[in-house]
Formats: sequence, C-alpha cells, structure tokens
Amino acid sequence: MESINLIIKNACQLLTLRSGQKGPRTGEHLADLGIIENGAVAISGDKIVAVGKTNEVLGKVSIGKKTKVIDAKNKVVLPGFVDCHTHPVFANTREDEFEMRIKGKTYQEIAASGGGIKSSVKALRSKSKKELIQLALPRLDRMLSYGTTTIEAKSGYGLSLEDEIKMLEVIKELNKIHPIDLIPTFLGAHEIPEEYKNNRKEYIKLIIEKMIPEVAKRKLAVFCDVFCEKGIFDIEESREILKAAKNHGFKLKLHADQLSSLGGSKLAAEVGAISADHLEFIDDDGIEKMKKSGVIGVLLPGACFGLGIKEYPPARKMIERGLPVALATDFNPGSSMTESMPMILSLACLMMRMTPAEAIVASTINSAYAVNKGNEIGSIEVGKKADLVIWNVQNYKEIPYRYGVNLVDHVIKNGEIIPAPHRQDLTRRNPV
Ligand code: NIG
Ligand code: FE
Repeated sequence: MESINLIIKNACQLLTLRSGQKGPRTGEHLADLGIIENGAVAISGDKIVAVGKTNEVLGKVSIGKKTKVIDAKNKVVLPGFVDCHTHPVFANTREDEFEMRIKGKTYQEIAASGGGIKSSVKALRSKSKKELIQLALPRLDRMLSYGTTTIEAKSGYGLSLEDEIKMLEVIKELNKIHPIDLIPTFLGAHEIPEEYKNNRKEYIKLIIEKMIPEVAKRKLAVFCDVFCEKGIFDIEESREILKAAKNHGFKLKLHADQLSSLGGSKLAAEVGAISADHLEFIDDDGIEKMKKSGVIGVLLPGACFGLGIKEYPPARKMIERGLPVALATDFNPGSSMTESMPMILSLACLMMRMTPAEAIVASTINSAYAVNKGNEIGSIEVGKKADLVIWNVQNYKEIPYRYGVNLVDHVIKNGEIIPAPHRQDLTRRNPV
C-alpha cells in the first residue's frame, strides 16, 4: 500500500476532468468534467497517487500518523486554475484611464495620447527588480487565493533589451519564491516604444537581432508573443518577429483580432502558434484555419468587460465548429485589472454563453494545453501534479453562478495546503 501525506475525502463532487478525448477538449468533450460523487484524492509528495470513490481510495492507500486528512463533505474539488494569459509584472496602476473610458474615450484614443502601454513602460523602466517583485507578490497571492495554481506571465512593459530582460528575471524570481508556477513569455513586441516612434523598423530589428537571441540564450522565456493589431504590429511585422522567435526555439502566441479583424488568427495558424488569444473580431475563415492547424483559442472576456466593450469573442460558434478554447484573465493594468479566474468563468457563462462545465474545462485542462503543460497539470489524475482547489459549494455550477465572491475553501499547491486563516475563519462562520 502506498503511504501518503495528504488525502481529501468525501467530496460531494470531485471534478477529475478525465475524458475519452486526448489533448485539448473540443465540441461535446468540452463539457466533460469526469465527475466522481463522494470522491477522494490521495497525494504523495507533490503528485496525485489515487483518485476515485472515497471507499475505493481508502482501500488503496495507507494512512499514517503524518498523513493529513481533509474532509471535503459538502464541498466540490477541482484542479487548480491555469491562467494561461497574464501580464502580472507592472509598476503603475491606470485607474485614471478607467475613468476616461467611462467618460467616453476609447482604449486606442488613450494610447494615442501617451497613456496605455506606453505609460506602463515609462513607469516600469524606473523601477528596480526588487521593487517589481514586491509589487507583484500580492497579486500572485490574490491569484492563489482565487484558486489559480499556474500562470503564464508576459514581459512587454520594458521594450528595451535591458528592461525586457529585467522583467523576465523578475518572473523567474517570482517563480522561485512564490507557490504559483509562472511560465514566462517574451512580449517585446507589445508596442513600439516612444524612442522608436519614427523608426519602427529599427525597433523590429532590435527585437529580432538582439532581444530574441539574448532571451533565448539566457533561457528566460518559453513562449514569444506579439500584439498583432492595427497601429501596433501589422501582419507582416508580426510574421517576421514570430518566425525569428521560432528559429530560436520559442513556442508562439499572438494577441490576435482583439480590436479589429486584422487576421492575426490566420497568421497564428500559418506560423503554427500554440494559441491565438483574444479573438473578439475573428472571422469564419480564421476559426477554420486555427482548427486545422491545432491552434487553441484563448478567450479573455475580462478584457472586454474591463474595457466596457460589447464585442465578446464568438465562443459558441468556435465551440460548435470544433475549435479548442481556453479561458484566462489577461490580468494587466490597462484592460483587465482582475486576478480572479472565477470572475472570468462568470463572464464566459453570462457574456459568451459557455456552460459552467465548458468554462471549467476551458480554464483547467485546456488552459494547461495552452501553456504546453496538458500532460502535467489541469486534471485530477494519477501521476499529475497535486494542484487542487476545494470549494465551499455543493455543485460546481455555483462557481460561475455566484459571481464576484471568493468561494475557495482550500488551495493545495504541489501537494501542500496553502494556509489562508482569515478566509477560513469567515467561511466557517458562514459555510453556505
Ligand atoms: O492583452 N492587448 C494588448 N495587451 C494587453 C493590454 C495591455 C495594457 O493596456 O497595458 C491586453 O489587453
Ligand atoms: Fe494580453
């Protein structure tokens, strides 16, 4: 019998996310939660070693003096969320822009008048690595408290060789010191910095000839991303940058078809990107091409909500056409200032008509595939990493239904229980 250090038992619903479909889930498999009623999970070290009905699991493992036992009676257990698109390292908040948008200015107008990404670049350049780490830590704590156990994290507010490296080193350090796993993405092509505004070709040359080789040499990023948008990087420029990145061994991502129908989704298919993200303005051809090339559509309804725009990505159409979709926060100070994945699930259900089951699959196993970790995380299966969340609900549908509140009971990261004393006190007083 296997000796274990943690067992969670009696969960009224254990969502394993097991499915007959391998790889990212599509179509009807997108709603396949693999639910076990009265379920249990046993953990040894940082790995899941048994999953099943409570009595079956109890018969398979040996519970010693040191084994911690969590009774999840009247609770639901899910894999930790994988937030596969975030910009968590930044120096300034931009609440004034939020107010300007409420009063009628658009995101593009604010960017053209010196706000937007450029204001974040200016603020970030003046901060040290240490300061940026201190600023990012409470954001990661908040993510963890809302049930996120892995994130993809982008650079893109440095836009010079040294400041992009600085951001990626901050992400590397955060990964070492914080329980959340951070997967780094180089986003030097987030905007043309002020000093190159009359010489964009030179900036693109800098990205291709200096930044990409240096980031690759120092192994500071897994993915390379480009903000492919009217007035930012056009299709040809994006293609050139992505091809250079591919030659240096990066996997590719794109901010595509967010504010206009430029064709970033088709470019993602052409260059073999792992995902194309946003997709508010994707057309039918884009959906078809992404599907054929196996590109995952990462949907970011928090950016639509945060910008107050009405066009959400056509999630239903994508799902019906068989495109795999994932969900993420797009956490950033400009368009989506939230660390909360449960809020994103609520938006996905209410604004894009995804069902609660589809939203959960899209934010766990499919988002794990969107960061190339589908074999390690994103489901509760033997051999996978023990990243789990116990929820103070009796039906998984309550998670998106009860929007804007935190119903997390316990987070288990790498097999360890993350302490959250204040929240637990409150939930004990008011369990439902
Ligand atoms: O994903 N679209 C580009 N990047 C971010 C916004 C970044 C910012 O405004 O600081 C996004 O929405
Ligand atoms: Fe983004």
